[in-house]
Order: sequence, then structure tokens, then C-alpha cells
Amino acid sequence: RWTTSSIVDEQVARIREQVGDGKAICGLSGGVDSAVAAALVQRAIGDRLTCVFVDHGLLRAGERAQVERDFVAATGVNLVTVDARERFLDALRGVTDPERKRKIIGREFIRVFEQAERDLKAEGDYRFLVQGTLYPDVVESGGGTGAANIKSHHNVGGLPDDLQFTLVEPLRALFKDEVRRVGAELGLPETIVQRQPFPGPGLGIRIIGEVTQERLDILRRADAIAREELTSAGLDRQIWQCPVVLLADVRSVGVQGDGRTYGHPVVLRPVSSEDAMTADWTRLPYDVLERISTRITNEVNEVNRVVLDVTSKPPGTIEWE
Ligand code: XMP
Repeated sequence: RWTTSSIVDEQVARIREQVGDGKAICGLSGGVDSAVAAALVQRAIGDRLTCVFVDHGLLRAGERAQVERDFVAATGVNLVTVDARERFLDALRGVTDPERKRKIIGREFIRVFEQAERDLKAEGDYRFLVQGTLYPDVVESGGGTGAANIKSHHNVGGLPDDLQFTLVEPLRALFKDEVRRVGAELGLPETIVQRQPFPGPGLGIRIIGEVTQERLDILRRADAIAREELTSAGLDRQIWQCPVVLLADVRSVGVQGDGRTYGHPVVLRPVSSEDAMTADWTRLPYDVLERISTRITNEVNEVNRVVLDVTSKPPGTIEWE
């Protein structure tokens, strides 16, 4: 088995060989994978790397500030932030099919990177695009040998055919636990390395139905509450991640005070896993579930029901779309 420092040395050498004296853009999502990929490439080519953080409007609360603060503080990397919220919402208007959403989001990411490349032209030729693609992303997008396409991960199956960049994907052979060790080896802080996974397509694939500004706001508030309660119960390291999913086209009758409500359900999807290829639903303590449910239904008006997903993977996947 590879040691972590040999993975780092080997990848740094490969990146140097691939990129030569060229320049690279790295899309940062705020997640572990892109952060570790960026840190590896930075070690290899230094300030010939520019990171681009795309605010696609499908982010969780506080995500953008966290990248701008923690990642830059840890690495000193050049960071460009692009506000692409309108662009993504426009592209997703009317779309409900999960694979179409994923492909649109993957394509729009690339369009934003292409624009960034044009904007950076004066500083040089940014021909390379760094992505934090992992081995499981490749397998589940149908890129592994003989594997079925389960879902198109935004950075694999969602890439447009006319891609102009040369991809640099130093994590393509690794699993998440290895990526975390590589990140620690590169000196990234715990707040980045131990983060729970969050998918590149973000809340866009956690709204079942059309993605709209209003629905995003609802889901963002519910998600923030669930995260807050899980963190304060000390459960972050026990669960792999806990997607909160808005069933935007489903409504049910409720009662609050003297009044009838006709709101939406959200689903809690707490899972335990080693590598996301398989997962079990996490037996969260009832009192924590109760606090999450009470707070969401009290604080997010549009939501009048909180339900728990008790499906393992397989047969369910972790994300609903
Ligand atoms: P599924 O839903 O396939 O998810 O069981 C497995 C893991 O991958 C994450 N995920 C993604 N990550 N881009 C990403 O960067 C994607 O398109 C994507 N889709 C799913 C998911 O959150 C889980 O950790």
C-alpha cells in the first residue's frame, strides 16, 4: 500500500511533468477534494496556479466565506471568486430531471472557468484545469471499466464535449480517506481536511423538482439548522454526511397554532460510510432528531414536516438525485 508521502511526491512529479511551465486554473468548491487537489498542484507549480471559486448559488450557508477565509489563509493561493448565481439559475430553469441537472451544472462550471481563463489572459496562458475528481466519482459516472452510469458526477460525466482545457486530476486513483491523509500531509487545517463531503452540484441536486431561488433559500435554512444541531451534538465525525433534501413538489397538510398549513417536507439523510461507494443510514439519537425537526418546522415556515431516510446504499444512493 502507498504511503501518504509517496503519493504526494509521485503526484507532484507527475503534475510538474504534465504542466511543464504552463499555468493552471483550479475550481474550488469548498470541499476536501478540490482543496487537496489545489494544494498538491500549488506544491508542484507554485503561483502558476490560480484558484477559481464559483458561487453558483447552490451553496450552503457560509460556504463562500469559509473558502475565502480558511483556504486562502492556509495556502496563500491566488483566488478569484466568480458570482455566477444568475447564470446557473437561468440554466436550470424548468429542469427537473436529475441527470439533466447534473450535466447542466457540469457544463456551466466549465463555461465559468473558460471565462476566467479569458479574464486571466493578460497574465498568461491558463491551459490546464485542475479538478478534485476521486476514484469513486469516476466509477459511478461510468468511467471505470464495465461500470454502469449510476449518476454523472459534475466533474466527470458532466463535462461538455468541446472542453478546451487539459485536465489535471491528481486524485483520480484515490479514495476519500486517502485524500484526507494527503491533505493533512500538505499541511491543510482540520477544518478543511475533515469536512464532510458536499457534492459539486450542491443544493441543486437536493431540491427534488425545479431549482428556484425561493426553494434554495428554504433548503439553505433547513440545512443550516441540521448542521448546527449535529455539530453541537458532537456527531460530525460519526456521520459521513447528512444531506437535507427538499421535496419541493410534494405538499402535505399540517397544523400550527390554530392554523392549517400546506407546506413541504424535508428529508434528513444521515449516512455512515468508508468511501461513499456503500453506506448505511446512521442511527442518530432521537433527541437530536427531535431538536432538528422542531427547529426546522418552527424556523422555516415553508416546511411543515421532517422525515428520516432509513435506506442503506445500495439500494439507495446517498444523494437523492
Ligand atoms: P451518491 O449519491 O452517488 O454519492 O451515493 C456518493 C458521494 O458523492 C457525492 N456526490 C458528488 N460529489 N460531484 C461531487 O463532487 C457530484 O456530482 C456528486 N454527486 C454525488 C455525494 O455527496 C456522496 O458523498
